[in-house]
Amino acid sequence: MPKNDLDSLWVRYIWKGVGVVVGSQWGDEGKGKFVSDLAQYNDIFVRSQGGPNSGHTVMVNGKKYAFHQVPSGAAFRKPSVMTAGMVVNPNLLYDEMQQVDDPSVVLIDSRIAVITRAHRALDGYGETNGTAIGTTRQGMGPAYESKANRRELITVRDLLDRQTLAEKVANYVHVHQAQLLEMGEIEKKTAEERARRELAPIEILSPANGIDEYCDSIVEELFGAGQKLAPHIAGDTSIMLQQFARSGKRILVEGAQGVLLDRDVGTVPYVTSSRTTAGATLADAGLSRYADRENGFWGVIKAYTTRVGGGPFPTELKNSTGELLRQKGLEFGTTTGRARRTGWFDAVATAYAIINGEILKGYLTKMDVLSAVKKPMICVAYEIDGKRTTQFPTDARVLERAIPVLEPAGRIERMNRRDIVNSGRKNGFNALPPNARAYIESVETLLRDLSGVPDFEISAVSIGPWKGQTVLK
Ligand code: GDP
Ligand code: IMO
Ligand code: MG
Repeated sequence: MPKNDLDSLWVRYIWKGVGVVVGSQWGDEGKGKFVSDLAQYNDIFVRSQGGPNSGHTVMVNGKKYAFHQVPSGAAFRKPSVMTAGMVVNPNLLYDEMQQVDDPSVVLIDSRIAVITRAHRALDGYGETNGTAIGTTRQGMGPAYESKANRRELITVRDLLDRQTLAEKVANYVHVHQAQLLEMGEIEKKTAEERARRELAPIEILSPANGIDEYCDSIVEELFGAGQKLAPHIAGDTSIMLQQFARSGKRILVEGAQGVLLDRDVGTVPYVTSSRTTAGATLADAGLSRYADRENGFWGVIKAYTTRVGGGPFPTELKNSTGELLRQKGLEFGTTTGRARRTGWFDAVATAYAIINGEILKGYLTKMDVLSAVKKPMICVAYEIDGKRTTQFPTDARVLERAIPVLEPAGRIERMNRRDIVNSGRKNGFNALPPNARAYIESVETLLRDLSGVPDFEISAVSIGPWKGQTVLK
């Protein structure tokens, strides 16, 4: 089979100009896998929001990459741009860049906000006072708070100027010193619990060490990282990206998290601190104008559901089937290593994500994993307070009361990936076994009906973690 066959198939679906991909559930749907499949057709890769809370897996040529802040396209030696809407942990970013053959492809907008050790401590603090969200403790919320309140903002640009950096770090620590000291006490008390849960220790502010020393050590750490990142720091990446778009280059904007974790339309307050919809992700990249309306709005959809951290999850399986999905699907966090919660596919929640996330094309992942389960189910509606509904409640407290209405699907056949991928080149979805096909059709029809988006379609199905283990419609 000539290599080009797969290429000519993707050609039907590939966007002109700019395309965006987002998660259509609660994250970890397989956005990294999507980028791997599309890497060869794109010239430039962009991450425009989120930061070290995400973990995107790329598996190609026998190698596995975990990307948190760097666009996944960096694995393919292509320009990979991080735009102003992100927040970054500079030291982690540098380390992460070292896993790719050519780190020089990574370009960092100087307006990106910096996460400091103090932001991470305050993220941990927020998790201890009865309003826990189950965050990744990467400092995301506090760093986005600094962005929003502007007075405490430290940007990537500041990493290159020791004086400014010292002033800004001191300002932040002084404003938050009461909470930082309290967090120090909490950290000491909870050291054992933290070790048991394998949570990263938070380096703390303690009265014994003093505020000046604490600030100095943060400044040293950040300034050092800034020096290492300096060759990658670019002023305004929007100019360059728009020029690329105008010159006909193809660009892939890679979303992070999932629509149901969106700060505004997700399951608030159990969400992340940034916007995660396709529209917002594109706008954060400054590229809305160049997006392909027909082929450019993709959502990655897992064939079942997972969620990390707290918050309502109507189809969650707290039994051996849930455990089976976790083991077979390797559902452990790429960022924190936490076990992901698992459950049935939820058409009500995903349809809501399609509407709010502005998704038109679906890339369905992990169909192979579902074959481990004897009697797969699909959630087609909820029962809330005795009433049946297909409307996703926008109030997390109401969603907590939702009982899923489940319909059985036929057992998904075990699949020989190589054979199916080969046959798929010619036969599309017909290469998949009958129950898998029926499952995909049910998911597509439900999502179309429940979202009211008539042209939504599942255009590709992923049956393994490696690049190319995919069948196109
Ligand atoms: P992301 O955050 O959306 O990029 O997803 P993650 O990388 O955090 O988690 C998805 C996991 O599923 C990774 O371990 C992928 O390698 C893996 N994966 C993606 N698609 C498939 C698939 O179709 N089948 C299997 N078995 N694994 C997949
Ligand atoms: P990717 O890009 C899954 C979840 C956390 C927590 C909530 C808030 O890999 O899909 P935060 O640290 O962002 O303040 O945590 O959001 N969360 C994710 N869950 N995948 C992610 O990213 C996530 N990023 C954040 O578990 O529930
Ligand atoms: Mg992930």
